[in-house]
Order: sequence, then structure tokens, then C-alpha cells
Amino acid sequence: MADARRFPAFLVHRTESGACRGEVRTDLSLDQLPEGDLLVRVDWSSLNYKDALSATGHPGVTRTYPHVPGIDAAGTVVSGGAPRFQPGDPVVVTGHRLGMDHWGGFARYIRVPADWAVPLPPGLSARDSMRLGTAGFTAALAVDAVLAGCRAPGAAPVLVTGATGGVAVIAIALLARLGLPVTAVSRKQGSLKARLVQLGAKEVLAPEELDPGPKPLARERWSGVVDTVGGPGLEGLLKSTAAGGVVATSGMVAGNQFSSSVYPFILRGVTLAGIDSAEQPMQRRLAIWERLAGSWKLDLEPICDEIGLDGIPGAVREMLAGTHVGRTVVHLN
Ligand SMILES: NC(=O)c1ccc[n+]([C@@H]2O[C@H](COP(=O)([O-])OP(=O)(O)OC[C@H]3O[C@@H](n4cnc5c(N)ncnc54)[C@H](OP(=O)(O)O)[C@@H]3O)[C@@H](O)[C@H]2O)c1
Repeated sequence: MADARRFPAFLVHRTESGACRGEVRTDLSLDQLPEGDLLVRVDWSSLNYKDALSATGHPGVTRTYPHVPGIDAAGTVVSGGAPRFQPGDPVVVTGHRLGMDHWGGFARYIRVPADWAVPLPPGLSARDSMRLGTAGFTAALAVDAVLAGCRAPGAAPVLVTGATGGVAVIAIALLARLGLPVTAVSRKQGSLKARLVQLGAKEVLAPEELDPGPKPLARERWSGVVDTVGGPGLEGLLKSTAAGGVVATSGMVAGNQFSSSVYPFILRGVTLAGIDSAEQPMQRRLAIWERLAGSWKLDLEPICDEIGLDGIPGAVREMLAGTHVGRTVVHLN
């Protein structure tokens, strides 16, 4: 029998002109949700760059509309998921195909395969888990990769690019918490510089200050790099990374192509580590969340803001314009 519950969501549809347009609706029903054995009542979601792409029709993220974006969700199990979950259990769902080709967290309910969900780790509220969200999970994976390559931790700073973005702000705070010197690079300067320093950056550079020159190798400036920006600048990051260092690459806001000589790899043993937050195995997923709720726990209040579903279009515009700062959580209740 059809479930009569109606609930709110941010639904994106394709208009006749081919453009995508999102609006807050209050009349969605559970029957419209995709397949899955776990029904979750969502209390919090968060905004990530991928959501901005999905909400504006990027075919690399979402192909079929109408669609509910939201690659993150935290809430309570309504039904399904036994034996791992019982009704009332608090859970976090990030990654996999949530919000991409599967209706996501910008709705009061999601229905997903139970193996997409992790129990909300003790020590984190649902809201805090979404302050982290995919951005925090990605930052933790990247920081973990960078730490593995630091031959002399602290001898040279770790560089974090796209510094005012969601992944980057959490990476900066994590690295600082772990006692590593951090250099942040941001296109935004002015008062935001002071906020990045408060977060833990020792210095804040403008992108032009990274110029590594034309030679195939440059001064060994960084003990590792968390790169959230991608594009042609990756070449210079590889050239300037110290022997053994890891450049952890997760993003492509500046493009999806770069070129490089092999010298950083074969003369300095530099590693280019790809970070994929969406498809991590369950054991790894649980371990990272446990760390974020325990020894790597952060106070993210200063770099988070909060919106309802009606705030999504404005935040998406800012994100695509590169003017968005920090993390935005979305409340559903
Ligand atoms: N691989 C994964 O699993 C994974 C997971 C999460 C995110 N990502 C990717 O990581 C990237 C960052 O995600 P996010 O959620 O942190 O996004 P975000 O909050 O929008 O941050 C991106 C930051 O990059 C900088 N930026 C924006 N446009 C730029 C441009 N054209 N050229 C250079 N810098 C630019 C800006 O920082 P400044 O103004 O301070 O320079 C911006 O704040 C995205 O590409 C996203 O898709 C990947």
C-alpha cells in the first residue's frame, strides 16, 4: 500500500530550455524514493562542490532529472537494514552514488542500500557529522596519505590549496591539530587570511606566490600537499614537493588536466595519491569516522554556517563562482 507521508525536498528538474532549476517542494512521497533496503529520516545534510554540479545539470554527476542532490545525509533509521541497523539508530550516509544518480540528502527522507550507511560514531552529533560530511571525510583521507610520506614531519610545511573551500579548511585544521606547519594558498585574501591563520595556517599565500619556475624540478618547499584545486597547477606542486612527499589530489575546480615530467617521481620519490571518498571500503570508512570523532575531532563552528532547503540556490551559486567559504550544513527539520 502506498505510504501517504509527504515530505520536503530540494528537487531539481530540467526545463524546456535544457537548463536545470531547483525548487523547494513539500509534496514528495516515499513511493518516489529510489530502491534500497534502508529508509532514513534525514535531519542534516551538507553542501559539497559535487552538489553544486548536480543542482546545475553537470552530466558527469547527474544524468537523470528530476533529481534530489545531496551527497551527504545524517539522520535516524526508520526501517530496514537489519541486522546491522534497528529503527531509531543514528546513521551517516556519504558517498557511493548518493545525490548523484540516486536521490540524496536534500530531502527529509532517503532510501539507500544499507551498506552505504555507517553508524553515527559516538562522540559526534548528527550536526557535527555533517559539518564534516564528505568534505571532512575527504580531508581526513588526504591528510592520512600526506602523513605517510612526511620523512621529517615539521621540517617543511604541508601545502593546502583552495584554502577557503570545504575540503581545504578541514585539512588545514586537521594538519594543525596534528602539529604540522601548514601553508595555505587561496585566491581570496583580505580578512579571510586572518580566518585561515586562526584555523591553523602558519602563512597564507596567493596562487602567484607558488610559481615554481620553468625547470623540471624546483626547490623542495613542501613536505606534502593537500590539493583540492587540480588542473595545470598540479605540475608545480609535484616539482616543489620534498623527497618522499605525497601530493594528495582530490579536486578539479581549476580543471581536470595537467602535465608533468617524470622527474619528481623518479628523482625524489614523490607520490601522486588519488583521493576517492565515494567508494572507500566499509572498514576504512568506519576507521576514518572513528578518528574524526575521536583523536582528530575538530571544533568546526567557526568555519560553518547553516541553511535550510531554501538557502541552497544561493549557496550553490557562491560555490560555482568560487566565492563560497568553509562548510555549509543544511537542516531538514
Ligand atoms: N575526490 C573526492 O572524493 C572528493 C571529495 C570531496 C570533494 N572533491 C572535490 O574537491 C574539490 C573541492 O571541493 P569542496 O567541496 O571543498 O569545494 P569548495 O568548498 O567549493 O572549495 C573549492 C575551493 O577551491 C578554490 N577555487 C574555486 N574555484 C577555483 C578555480 N577556478 N581555480 C582555482 N581555485 C579555485 C576556492 O578556494 P580559494 O578561493 O581559497 O582559492 C574554493 O573555495 C572539488 O573539485 C570537489 O569536486 C573530491
